[in-house]
Amino acid sequence: MLAERYPYYVANRPRWPNTDLPVVDKYSGEVVTRVALSDAAAVEEAIAAAVRAAGPMRRLPAHARQAVLEHCVRRFQERAEELALVLCIEAGKPLRDARGEVTRLIETFKAAAEEAVRGGGEVLNLEVSARAEGYRGFTRRVPVGPVSLITPFNFPLNLVAHKVAPAIAAGCPFILKPSDRTPVSAMILAEVLAETNLPEGAFSVVTPTLKDIGPLIEDERLKLLSFTGSEKVGWDLKARAGRKKVVLELGGNAACVVDREPGAPLEVVADRVALGAFFQSGQSCISVQRVLVHASHYEAFKALIVERARALRSGNPRDEATTLGPMIDEPAAKRLEGWIQDAVGRGARVLTGGGRKGALLEATVLEGVPEDAPLSAEEAFGPVVLLQPFTSFTEAMAQVNAGRYGLQAGLFTNDLSRAMHAWDELEVGGVVVGDVPSFRVDTMPYGGVKGSGLGREGVKYAIEDMTELRLLVLRQRAPQ
Ligand code: SIN
Repeated sequence: MLAERYPYYVANRPRWPNTDLPVVDKYSGEVVTRVALSDAAAVEEAIAAAVRAAGPMRRLPAHARQAVLEHCVRRFQERAEELALVLCIEAGKPLRDARGEVTRLIETFKAAAEEAVRGGGEVLNLEVSARAEGYRGFTRRVPVGPVSLITPFNFPLNLVAHKVAPAIAAGCPFILKPSDRTPVSAMILAEVLAETNLPEGAFSVVTPTLKDIGPLIEDERLKLLSFTGSEKVGWDLKARAGRKKVVLELGGNAACVVDREPGAPLEVVADRVALGAFFQSGQSCISVQRVLVHASHYEAFKALIVERARALRSGNPRDEATTLGPMIDEPAAKRLEGWIQDAVGRGARVLTGGGRKGALLEATVLEGVPEDAPLSAEEAFGPVVLLQPFTSFTEAMAQVNAGRYGLQAGLFTNDLSRAMHAWDELEVGGVVVGDVPSFRVDTMPYGGVKGSGLGREGVKYAIEDMTELRLLVLRQRAPQ
């Protein structure tokens, strides 16, 4: 199914050097394909080509940018099952989750195709005082220029789409560096883009090692860096990025509050929380990590979550019946297993799970995890959920806010004033009422505060970052 080898792309064209990056099947651990490795010269060529393409991309009419995005939509629809299998192999995603990601990829490109022809501007009345009589202002948005995009392993298609599709819609040439653990999806996306008539240099998809990646972060010819990945790496990149704009989509330890009257049967809430916690083995920045449950139904809820965690079927992601696949690699699973053991050493109780076989970590539910244990305070990024009872709603809000992350929070309540209070008080990028923090539709503004990042994605919002206002001032004189 996979090709033996994939190229990388510089200035819209495939390159086939002799050096390769091996790509491992995340379930079997075997090398299943290879992707050509980019060197420092390829990175420089990609940047120079993007700089040359800035004018042609800016001048490309909106309908032409839309046509490119629509071509991608069609091709992704045609290749949907192949793309899902690629995700399944290179990311270890159960097929069901992989197909869901392909659907979202298509939605993200569709949204970008619509946004591409939307960008209007404002007419400003500048006559604020006598000296400005006869003046009017007009604004429109223009692309910032060449942009640099760095993406993670957990959504190898859709998180690439969240950067690439807005860049095309905005008219920015881009250089994409996908995760070296899941580069195949991005190369298929590049293959589809190479079928279009984007101006030469409009896109490059490269695979440099850490040693050669520097210019994608530091080079002043690049006008924006958009990064999705870990908190530590993200803030470090920002410190190195110089004058360019920086967008950071980083981690979180998302909390979900199940209130006294949750507004839905407890079974339904437990279904959603289990999905939010264990979907794609918890490897999502908005995976449910901490659940605060009103004491009046804490015990009942605990039983429901444990039951759901035990019902998951762990195994080969290619098997249609599998609902819990491996984590990205064994070191990641070992790291989380260590955090679980550390929490137990601090007095936490494992209600189910905790075991590990290679990269497969069992769906794990714990209670009594101290707030400062890494399992609670850090981003778990794995199939683990922590339960904790509360009696005071305001204290629960304070607990959601504790710590250095702030991406999304979920709240099950049927009390509108509590929902509004949460929206007012929670220090996060988004509050989801009636569902888990893991809910995301690709057109909504998505991003975090505090350690969780800077800026927002969600097609329209990413386009705002990739463009800037340009003002026209017009002085009107009386007709002669
Ligand atoms: C992420 O892990 O940051 C993205 C989550 C999503 O798109 O659902």
